[in-house]
Amino acid sequence: MKIFITGGSGFIATPLVEHLLEKGYKVKVLDLKEPKLKHKNLEFVNKSILGNITSDIKGCDAVFHFAALLGVENSDKRPLDTMKINLEGSVNVFKSAIDAGVKKMIYSSSSEVYGEPRELPIKEGSVKGPVSTYGVSKLAAEIYAKAYNQEFGTDIRIVRFFNVYGPGQENNWVVPIFLNKALKNEPITIFGNGNQTRCFTYVEDVAEGVLTVFEKGNKGEAYNIGNNQPTTILELAQIAKEMAKSKSEIAKLDFGEKTRLKEREIEYRIPDISKMKALGWKPKTMIREGISKILSMKN
Ligand SMILES: NC(=O)c1ccc[n+]([C@@H]2O[C@H](COP(=O)([O-])OP(=O)(O)OC[C@H]3O[C@@H](n4cnc5c(N)ncnc54)[C@H](O)[C@@H]3O)[C@@H](O)[C@H]2O)c1
Repeated sequence: MKIFITGGSGFIATPLVEHLLEKGYKVKVLDLKEPKLKHKNLEFVNKSILGNITSDIKGCDAVFHFAALLGVENSDKRPLDTMKINLEGSVNVFKSAIDAGVKKMIYSSSSEVYGEPRELPIKEGSVKGPVSTYGVSKLAAEIYAKAYNQEFGTDIRIVRFFNVYGPGQENNWVVPIFLNKALKNEPITIFGNGNQTRCFTYVEDVAEGVLTVFEKGNKGEAYNIGNNQPTTILELAQIAKEMAKSKSEIAKLDFGEKTRLKEREIEYRIPDISKMKALGWKPKTMIREGISKILSMKN
C-alpha cells in the first residue's frame, strides 16, 4: 500500500513516515523541503499543495494531509497566507486526491478548533469555537472534509492533535523554548500566573495514534490525539529547569506585554481520549520521560 503524505518532511510527519516504512508501506512525500530520511520505499516530490498535484497522487492508495502554515502568532501575522495554505491548500489536496481516485484520507487538525473549551475533558463532539486565525483555518478545512465525505463518499478522517512536542521541533514552541533557555541558564518567561493547563503529547505517540486511526478508525470520523495528563505552564517551566539541571530563574510576565493577549490565552485544554482508547491507542510517554528523551538527544 502506498501513502501520499503532504508536509511529510515536517516535525510530526517525520516519525510517522518512519513508522509507515517500518510497517512495510510505501511512502510518497510532497513538501517544499526534502525529508531527512532516505529509504528505498520513500519518494519525494518538491511541490506546493497549492499546485497541480493530481498526477503526483495517482497510483497512491491513501492521502495523509499534514502540510500547513503553523502557529497561532505566526498565522495572525499572515492571515491571508494562512487562509490560502490551510484552507485553499487543503481543499486542493482533497479534490486532487478524489480526481486521482483516492478516497481514504487523514486530515491533521488541531485542538485549536475548540477554542476555550465549554466542557472538560474536551470530546470530539464538543463545541468548536476557535479564537485564532490558525484555529479558524483548521476548522474550515475540517468542515470541507466532512462536506466532501457527504458529497463524494470519501473517507476523510480527522485527527486533532494536542500540544505536540519532541525532538526536532523548531524553537518557537513552548517546550523547546523553555528547554533551550534552561540549558543556557537564561530566564524562562511565562505569561500570567502560569496556571494555563495543557496536555503535552510526545510526537512518537502522535505518529502511532495517526496510524491507529488509519488502520482501525471509523470512516469519516474525528479523533482527539493527545496525552490526557495535564501540566500547567509553570510546572512545565519547573520540569524543564529541574531536568536540565539549570540555574534559570522563572520570570512571570504580564499579559499585554509583547504580543500576548490574555483574552486569547486558552486556560484549560484537556482532551477526552476515550475514542482513541477504544481503538487500542493510549499515550505512552509522559512529560518527564519525553523531556528526558529530548535532552538525551541534545547531548
Ligand atoms: N505541532 C503541533 O503541536 C500541532 C498541533 C496540532 C496540529 N498540528 C498540525 O499537524 C500538521 C503538521 O504540523 P508540524 O508540527 O509537523 O509542522 P511543520 O511545520 O514541522 O510541518 C509542516 C510541513 O508542511 C510543509 N509545507 C508548508 N507549506 C507547504 C506548502 N504550501 N506545500 C507543501 N508543503 C508545505 C513544510 O515545509 C513542513 O515540512 C499541521 O497540519 C498542523 O496544523 C500540529
